[in-house]
Amino acid sequence: MTQESSLVHVDNLFTGFERQFGGSPLATYFSPGRVNLIGEYTDFNGGYVLPAAIDLGTYYAARPNGTPIINVFSETLDNQMSVSFDAIARLEAEGAWHDYVVGTLKELLQLGIDGEGLDIFVTSDLPRSSGLSSSASFTVGLAFLFNDCWGGGIERIDLVHAAKRVENDFVGVQCGIMDQFAVAMGKADHCIYLHCQSLDFELVPVHMDGYDIVIADSRVPRRLAASSYNDRRAECDAALNALRGIRDLECLVDASLDEVESSEALRALPLPYKRAHHVVSENDRVQESVAALSGGNLGRFGELMQASHASLRDDFEVSCAELDLLVEAAMRVPGVLGSRMTGAGFGGCTVSIVPTHAVAGFIDTVGKAYSDATPYEARIFRAQAGDGVKRRND
Ligand code: GLA
Repeated sequence: MTQESSLVHVDNLFTGFERQFGGSPLATYFSPGRVNLIGEYTDFNGGYVLPAAIDLGTYYAARPNGTPIINVFSETLDNQMSVSFDAIARLEAEGAWHDYVVGTLKELLQLGIDGEGLDIFVTSDLPRSSGLSSSASFTVGLAFLFNDCWGGGIERIDLVHAAKRVENDFVGVQCGIMDQFAVAMGKADHCIYLHCQSLDFELVPVHMDGYDIVIADSRVPRRLAASSYNDRRAECDAALNALRGIRDLECLVDASLDEVESSEALRALPLPYKRAHHVVSENDRVQESVAALSGGNLGRFGELMQASHASLRDDFEVSCAELDLLVEAAMRVPGVLGSRMTGAGFGGCTVSIVPTHAVAGFIDTVGKAYSDATPYEARIFRAQAGDGVKRRND
């Protein structure tokens, strides 16, 4: 029913590569997923976020193949795609997993980077479509791998921007920068306090003495997540336009909660009003959370997580019955400090702060409450804040 997180064993990476392509890879890579501790839908509104890279992610084994063709085999999907350099420029998105490969290659070619064809074996222990950024993990990892194999010398931050453009311009999801940034810039035992407008950031130690970060994957299929995501973004833009009647604002988070609540122009637009109410209050909660975490006040951080979930459920309307149920079940476990949905929502995962001694009980009781009330089995596991994308030393 439930399980602890398990890392892909390095032997699987080598045997998988050999099965698919023969021989051994020349290099292996790891690109993490991320969990967002707090700060949801603040990124494309110019606000703060507080994600951490995690110890689950995408693994790659690669070797030049002496041809002008790139072959990528996904073990998770049991599917291989091949593309030759001369076809890349004219390819369009097809709504398939290989869009991420083609989109990444287009971006790198535009940055002037290319090289020999490669055989790439990919596997993952990150649940897909679960709000843990499996697509940012995959895309940033690929961009890093190509850059490394071809000696491109592109800075990490430029790989972040390239991977975001793949989502925005090729795949068609108008996401912000949080996920790609966290996947590229994560550091073990830290979360990233990122200001998404300036991209200034601080690594904040995750000191959770006696507590663990526990993720619960609802396994709810995320239908229409991309179009609902883009709708939310349009509603935020409508809110910003309405508020611009008051004063010159660059981003939605530049408005105060007072301004949101007292703007008649905004209140006349019920959905943009609710969206703005969430975004502006959430941005305040991120800043307060960093103060609470830095001051060792985990209890206050837990309360802010609760307020974040309520705001995402009621004002931003991106939670769902199953996520609410997981959060409620989590909060009934004695000692749990906070629990909230993480990522874009519409299904996906919750994140909870659970006393270390209570984690095993949490996995059982929350898992049981969930499977009793829904047709799904949750996957519940402890997560560690880990490093960003890297070449491995296998
Ligand atoms: C997705 C997007 C991010 C961010 C979150 C919500 O993960 O990719 O840019 O907007 O949703 O906070």
